[in-house]
Amino acid sequence: MDLYEAMSSCRAVRRLRPDPIPDEVLARLVQAAVWAPTGGNVQPWRVILVREASAKQRLGALYAQAWGGYSSQLRKTLAPLPDERRAPHERTLLAGDYLAAHFDETPVIAIFCFDPKQMAITDAGLERPSVVGGGSVYPAVQNFLLAARSEGLGCVLTTLLCQHEVAVKALLAIPDGWGTCAAIPLGYPLRKGHGPLSRRPVDKLAYADRWGAPYR
Ligand SMILES: Cc1cc2nc3c(=O)[nH]c(=O)nc-3n(C[C@H](O)[C@H](O)[C@H](O)COP(=O)(O)O)c2cc1C
Repeated sequence: MDLYEAMSSCRAVRRLRPDPIPDEVLARLVQAAVWAPTGGNVQPWRVILVREASAKQRLGALYAQAWGGYSSQLRKTLAPLPDERRAPHERTLLAGDYLAAHFDETPVIAIFCFDPKQMAITDAGLERPSVVGGGSVYPAVQNFLLAARSEGLGCVLTTLLCQHEVAVKALLAIPDGWGTCAAIPLGYPLRKGHGPLSRRPVDKLAYADRWGAPYR
């Protein structure tokens, strides 16, 4: 698949079929993740491909708990909005409800882990939340998502499970010192899956030479 076509249609797919994913397809996704760059080429990340039913059930229960808190808060925030502004969020929330109710039925849940000790986190001393460490994990996550797109698989980058990191680490035997930064439920789409994206225009996000200067 053309790379630009994959990037421009790789949207969140939350309704997934339980059908198994062939091992060779999964292997291509993992290879794509491994090709990603990391600071100093240290590769301070690992991915656990969870297929065992009992582990997926436990992850699903934890995810549903986190989603319940997040979605009820969001629904309260959206309640005063007029229908036409609320509608797109409502559609996403319904898809999120579906994912939370069927998390354990997805054939694979990919849990991305990272070791902050192996990272040169160049913004760690600044008086704002540090983000640089994520740059040595999320490119691998994005490669994984794009490879899934090109294989016709649906998936969505989720982070709500990080709230339950202690329980997830115990469940999956993740060693001390490692953290979790993404859980990707992966499966063939129940509906049409990937499609056009809704994003701000380039001019709103890209500048020329100075902040705010028109890019083109
Ligand atoms: C850092 C990050 C965390 C996210 N966490 C979740 C999550 O926990 N649950 C979820 O359903 N979607 C999650 N998403 C998916 C976003 O909601 C989704 O990518 C965004 O709304 C754009 O949707 P679209 O690609 O379908 O247009 C996350 C995405 C990112 C990039």
